[in-house]
Amino acid sequence: MDARQSRANTLAEITKAAIDKTSGLSSRSKFLSAQFPPDSISRRTFVRATFASVGALALGKLQLPDAQAARGGGSRTVTRYPLHVPPVYSPTNGYPVKAAPAIVNMGSDQLPLPSSVLAYNGLMPGPTFLAASGTTASINFTNGLVDESTIHWHGMIVPTPADGHPRDAIAPGGSYAYQFPIIQRACLNWYHPHPDMLTGEQVCLGLAGAFIVRDSEEAALGLPSGAYEIPLIVRDANLDSAGNLAYNPTTTGFDGKIPLVNGTRNPKLDVDTALYRFRVLNGANARLFRLSLSNGAPFVLIGNDGGLLEQAAPVGQIEIGPAERLDLLVDFRGQSIGAKVILRDLNAGWDLLEFDVARVVTDTHTIPTTLSTISKLANPVSTRTFKFEGMSKINGQVYDLNRIDFQVPFGQTERWIFTTGHNAPHPVHVHGASFQVQSRTGGRGVVFPWERGWKDTVLLEDGETVEVLIRFDGYRGLYLIHCHKLEHEDMGMMSNFEVI
Ligand code: C2O
Ligand code: CU
Ligand code: CU
Repeated sequence: MDARQSRANTLAEITKAAIDKTSGLSSRSKFLSAQFPPDSISRRTFVRATFASVGALALGKLQLPDAQAARGGGSRTVTRYPLHVPPVYSPTNGYPVKAAPAIVNMGSDQLPLPSSVLAYNGLMPGPTFLAASGTTASINFTNGLVDESTIHWHGMIVPTPADGHPRDAIAPGGSYAYQFPIIQRACLNWYHPHPDMLTGEQVCLGLAGAFIVRDSEEAALGLPSGAYEIPLIVRDANLDSAGNLAYNPTTTGFDGKIPLVNGTRNPKLDVDTALYRFRVLNGANARLFRLSLSNGAPFVLIGNDGGLLEQAAPVGQIEIGPAERLDLLVDFRGQSIGAKVILRDLNAGWDLLEFDVARVVTDTHTIPTTLSTISKLANPVSTRTFKFEGMSKINGQVYDLNRIDFQVPFGQTERWIFTTGHNAPHPVHVHGASFQVQSRTGGRGVVFPWERGWKDTVLLEDGETVEVLIRFDGYRGLYLIHCHKLEHEDMGMMSNFEVI
């Protein structure tokens, strides 16, 4: 039996063992009391998760000498693995989604890099959901984790019972039917857990997926589609000594040593000489990425969190914080076979993804300049200020699940001012409505091209104040505003409000 075959067998055995053990997981508290001293701080994750890996948490450590070797630590040439692209499904008819421990392959079939993670339906990232505006999503969630969880549909405007609010946490072994009409324009959203104080750990250990909404305005543009439209979920990660995903945050946020794109290590993508549409999500807990292309070509920026911008814009570098999205066109026409273009993160100096130009095709797409019409919010009737302080407070208060901090009248435009002294970045996120960024003062001092149009998350750096206009015209009910640096969120930089 050759090495390749034995690796494949090992992977199959581990997967089976993982599935067997998943059904008989011991309770979290038992595990915790064995591993950690009694809590001294009240917010639970921080305490417990000074070092948690799924392997340790749920499955027992994997011993994978082959996989260690395959990871190529220390070798000079980087082994590149084909970029994983999650399968696409329609979120209808109670589509089943189960969150549970799983073994995934961060490498390739030929050279597997097995890792114990938490996954939706065994996939990391989870399946990509694709739905048309005007239809209804219906997803049956089962919690196969040892902790409570929810699914939050980040960016989707949904009724409170479908928002995955931490108050509506599903116990281990429980299930819940998420149902909501899709009442918004075409965009890239995403889904992830949102349980109180456990979001950072569950997301970091693998629970996240893309949710794409289509509409006729977008369809009329004839943008690249099929194999030419690819989601890129970019994040950082840490591995324990056995190669399993590990969650070892600090109060300043989780800081991973390696990047993953769609759960792939050192990914490459064979591309045609064609125009591509990349749907980018910063899926990191805390890290900012400054994206650029190694050949100096600009991205053509066409959209962000809330869908298409009014006009396409060439942009050389784009910095995005956790939970922000980008819709980018990259043109490989005119490249020759064998050319390599690298998607880089200039902040960490990482090569995130290598594009290998592999096939000549004829592509007659034109890049549209006018994309969309965006009705501007104006004339706010009231103003609220939110100060993101320290690492755990908004306006002086730590999150309390049962406290409602303010009420917002339905259908009324308001000016919300987000401000901070330090401990940034604070990517500020609001549930229940999208907003339009008006200004940034202090710090970087400008509104960037990727912050135009509709947003649901905006980055606050030290010393910055950002003003947005917002109007809740979807639903009345309970929603959240929070810092999407997930460690800040879990420590309490979050607030409940009610749309009335
Ligand atoms: Cu992506 Cu309230 O979160
Ligand atoms: Cu959200
Ligand atoms: Cu923060």
